This record gives sequence, structure tokens and C-alpha cells, in this order.
Amino acid sequence: MALNTEKVLAMNGGQGKSSYARNSSLQGKFLRFLQPFLQECIAHMNITPCNKFAIADLGCSSGPNSLFIAHTISTEIQDKYMAMSLPKPELQVFFSDLPSSDFNLLFQSLPPPPKGDKQEEEEEDDNEKNGTIKTRCNYFAAGVAGSFYNRLFPKNSLHFVHSNFSLHWLSQVPAEIEDKRSRSWNGGRVFISKDGPVEVGEAYLRQFQKDFHSFLRARSEEVVAGGCMFLSLLGRPDECEDPRDQGPFATVWDILHASFNDMVIQGVIEEDKRDSFNLPFFSPSSLELRAEVEKEGSFTVKRIDYFSVLGQPRFETENIKDEDIGRMVANHSRAVLEGMISAYFGSEVVNPLYENFAKRAAGNASQVMESILHGGEFFVVLGRKQD
Ligand SMILES: C[S@@+](CC[C@H](N)C(=O)[O-])C[C@H]1O[C@@H](n2cnc3c(N)ncnc32)[C@H](O)[C@@H]1O
Repeated sequence: MALNTEKVLAMNGGQGKSSYARNSSLQGKFLRFLQPFLQECIAHMNITPCNKFAIADLGCSSGPNSLFIAHTISTEIQDKYMAMSLPKPELQVFFSDLPSSDFNLLFQSLPPPPKGDKQEEEEEDDNEKNGTIKTRCNYFAAGVAGSFYNRLFPKNSLHFVHSNFSLHWLSQVPAEIEDKRSRSWNGGRVFISKDGPVEVGEAYLRQFQKDFHSFLRARSEEVVAGGCMFLSLLGRPDECEDPRDQGPFATVWDILHASFNDMVIQGVIEEDKRDSFNLPFFSPSSLELRAEVEKEGSFTVKRIDYFSVLGQPRFETENIKDEDIGRMVANHSRAVLEGMISAYFGSEVVNPLYENFAKRAAGNASQVMESILHGGEFFVVLGRKQD
């Protein structure tokens, strides 16, 4: 049975040691790196007077990154209305993710909503007087649980859509790679690998095309004409034509693959069980992304950039010990994959797997760091065409 991502993918909730909230600084660094491009995208956006401006962050998860993004976008939009001397609309931010996401943590960490016009004229409330409330959001927040591969919002209701580090997750593992009789059988591996069958890479690419098409189709109904989407996701350079070559980030997947192998050798995981497990993940190239946008037809590509942050002045590389690099990468990977791995293999597998992973990553620290910092991401700016 092909793994259905929407049922098993869940970032680790809460604020504990293994939580996504405490292990998402790498994704956060990408967000900060992208901030000027996001600001530029909003600066170039055509805006018109409206009472309510709706923003959606798809695959928002919980923790500091979700709040940072909502604050950045809402502030830019407000400033843009002010700069154009247009009346400021009320802003609504929809935080959207799979139902398994920790929405409670997200909403507990949000500052209070803005005051209404009438309230603004009234005196400060008690919480403000005694200093419990220091800042307020400049938007009204709402949570929307569901898969972004389906419709999530009413027609023509969104003005700006954002998504970071999420669209490389497929809705499911391509069914054919788990069929032992098929040429696409991916036995012995947990993901695409350069030395695996060509058919496996092709099957993953087909699944990505299908999913990204569904994403665009759903958003084409929800985003108003002239509305904008700013999407960033892991990707591979166009030179990696063969989808089996998943680009620089593949080093991290190879380590995970080797750790799974060690678990099989040590008898922690049965071989058959490992053989039937595959990650629902795919790094597209910019050509593959662009082709899907053009095929679907509702959006124009305003900008598409593949970048790696290595050596960028805004992205500081820390001087950390190999052991700490191994631990950090293991913690980041665990915060994202623990839910899925536990659901498939049982929770007892997670500690030994990630102890092994941390050691292997420490043993290859410089390659791992290079892979993470050089591991490319795309950002794509799409504008909704007039129907
Ligand atoms: C690595 S987290 C990124 C979170 C946040 N955007 C950030 O930048 O830190 C990926 C998120 O995508 C969500 N996700 C994956 N597939 C999804 C789907 N089909 N629909 C909605 N969310 C999805 C996951 O649940 C997870 O919260």
C-alpha cells in the first residue's frame, strides 16, 4: 500500500527537545534569506482598494517561522497600501497545514489580534495597562486544516499565497515503486538514488507533476485575478536532468538511507518492511516546475530562481564541531520525519535510527554542511491571470 503522506506526515509538535518549533532554524535561515525577494515581490504586486486582504501560508507548521512569515507579509502589504495612499484594508492571515499539525501551539504563540476602529478610540484594556500585552498582530488569524493539493478556500478569496519548504512533499509515494513485480520497484532503498532504477526517478517525477498540477488547479480557483503566489521549495539545478540526481541535498538522504540499512543489518528493522518504505519527497528542477505552470495555464511565471545560499553574505555559516553538526542535522530530520517513521515502523525504531544518523552525519560533517548550505531551493513568483 503506497504511503499516504497526508495521513502520516506530521512535524513534531510542542516545544520539546525534538519539536519542529525548536528544530527548524535551517528552514528559518532560508526564510530570512528570502525575505528581501518576498518584499520585492510585494512591492511589484498590483494592488487595488479592498476592505479585506487575505493571505494564506500553506504548509505553515508551527513555531517561530510561521509567525515570522505572517508578520513579514502583513507588514509589507500594509506599507504598500500606505505608500500608495490607499485606505488600509483589514488583513486576514490563514495559517494552513495538514490536520496533524500543532495548531494549538501556533495559536498560543500568536500575539492578540488588532483592535477594531471603534476599540482603538477606547482606553487601553487591563492587559495592556498592566503590560501583559506588548504587541498586537496587524492581522486577524485563522487556521485551515487540509491538504494544499485540494481546495481549501472559497473561490476568488485569496490575494497572496505563501509556502515555504512544503511543496517538495508529495501527496503520496508513487504506487508503482512499491510493486515488487514492477521495473520501478525500489527495493533496498528508502528514496530515489543515483544508482537506482531509472523508472523510480520517472515515477517520482510523474507524481510530482500530478501533485503540483492539483495544487495549481486548486489555487487557480481561490486566488483573485492579479493575486500573487510566492512559493519556495527544495529543488535541483537544471543540469541534473535525470530525476534520480536529486541535487546537492541528496547527501542527507543518502545518510538516512545508510542508517536504514544499518538498522536492517542490526535487526532493528525487517528488510521487507524497509523495502516497502519510501519517502514521499521530490526535488524538481526549474524546467519541470515551469512546465507544470505553463501546462495548467492560470498563472504567469513572474520570476523563478534557483539559488544556493553558500557564500551569500546574508547567510552566516557557523563554526561548529562535527559532532554538533551531526546532532543538529539529525534533530532537524527527526523533527520532520519522526511522525512518519513511527507510524510505519513503530516508535521504538526512532532513537536507534537517529543515533546512527547523527554519528554518520558527524563522520561526513563537511559534506553534510556543504549539502545543506549548497542544497538548492527555488523561489517562484506566480501571478494569477485574468480568466
Ligand atoms: C518542513 S515544514 C515547513 C514549515 C514552514 N513553512 C517553515 O518554513 O518552517 C513542511 C510543512 O508542509 C506541510 N505539508 C506537507 N504536505 C502538505 C500537504 N499536502 N498539505 C498541507 N501541508 C502539507 C507539513 O505538514 C509541514 O508542516
